[in-house]
Amino acid sequence: MTATELPPSLIRTLPGSSYTDPQIFALEQEKIFEQMWFCAVRASELGKPGAFRTVQVGRESVLITRARDNSVKAFLNICRHRGAKLCTEESGEVKRAFQCPYHAWTYGLDGKLVAAPNLTSMPDVDRTTYGLVPVQVREWLGYVWVCLADEPPSFEADVIGAATERLGTPEAIEHYQIDDLSVGRRITYEVKANWKLIIENFMECYHCATIHPELTEVLPEFAGGYAAQYYVGHGAEFAEEVTGFTVDGSDGVDRIPGVDEAQDRRYYAVTVKPQVFINLVPDHVIFHRMYPLAADRTVVECDWLFLKDVVESGKDVSRSVELFHRVNVQDFDACERCQPTMDSRAYRAGGVLVPSEHHIAMFHDWVTDRLRG
Ligand code: FES
Ligand code: FE
Repeated sequence: MTATELPPSLIRTLPGSSYTDPQIFALEQEKIFEQMWFCAVRASELGKPGAFRTVQVGRESVLITRARDNSVKAFLNICRHRGAKLCTEESGEVKRAFQCPYHAWTYGLDGKLVAAPNLTSMPDVDRTTYGLVPVQVREWLGYVWVCLADEPPSFEADVIGAATERLGTPEAIEHYQIDDLSVGRRITYEVKANWKLIIENFMECYHCATIHPELTEVLPEFAGGYAAQYYVGHGAEFAEEVTGFTVDGSDGVDRIPGVDEAQDRRYYAVTVKPQVFINLVPDHVIFHRMYPLAADRTVVECDWLFLKDVVESGKDVSRSVELFHRVNVQDFDACERCQPTMDSRAYRAGGVLVPSEHHIAMFHDWVTDRLRG
């Protein structure tokens, strides 16, 4: 069956191979994750100079640290001598420098080569030229975003613009004071599914009535199948009897002071392509970052962010966390159910999108365009 034979209610998805073919995945790494701004770590994880994290961005390992002047720096995590991976840990702390475990070339927190055995006998070696290869860095919403492109796209247009476009006004997201919130809980999910299945799932709510019983109790309009992010500026309203965005609809914690009356008792969802989902409710923010590692494997790090006072006072946030944790598990189970069948001959030409999912076709067009470019 070709696309022209589909009835108007249906739009074809990407073909099955798009979710399984390692070559397509490699192209996505090159044309999407290594070209765009990538949300890498929470800035507060880099608590003091020398604290570091390593993350996989496209095909590269990136080392992110805080320099002595407190600025955040990012480098390709590779020694300039003979190419050993500099840091093998996912996170840690060094005192004042990174030392390669192979021949002990040593780099300052600003990336400069500061020492190497016999370096003084090689006065022609410039310490900046042979320093770590820098990666572009921006901080927004309390997260460190990196970009591997030589000429990064506009952060304002691609990242800030995505949130603004969805929420309707530039100030709307600022009301949640996300950069000042604290991580109350982080859960890391190993999802055996292609990153696009996870985005597509997040973009639609046709599945909500089937797999999200707790969520649809709190947000009854989700049972209708239309995702909140379908409409610009729209937030899904809490059910009348619900007092908080919690697993049983009971009270949450202190409301974020900047959240205005129009945003109160509402849930907003934002997708920032290619790997971030932001969920906004009056008393917390749920922030997902995907790390696509293979065509069929994606790590998702999910932070539950609350007011600093709430986290420091040790208030019980477990019912708030439990709601979206269940949603995550339900969603990722669904994605993992689809992944192994993407290779089936029945899915060779792909599946179909119903009207409440038609906006996913825009995402498919975007992916196709990026890979072509
Ligand atoms: Fe790093 Fe030789 S490879 S010091
Ligand atoms: Fe869902």
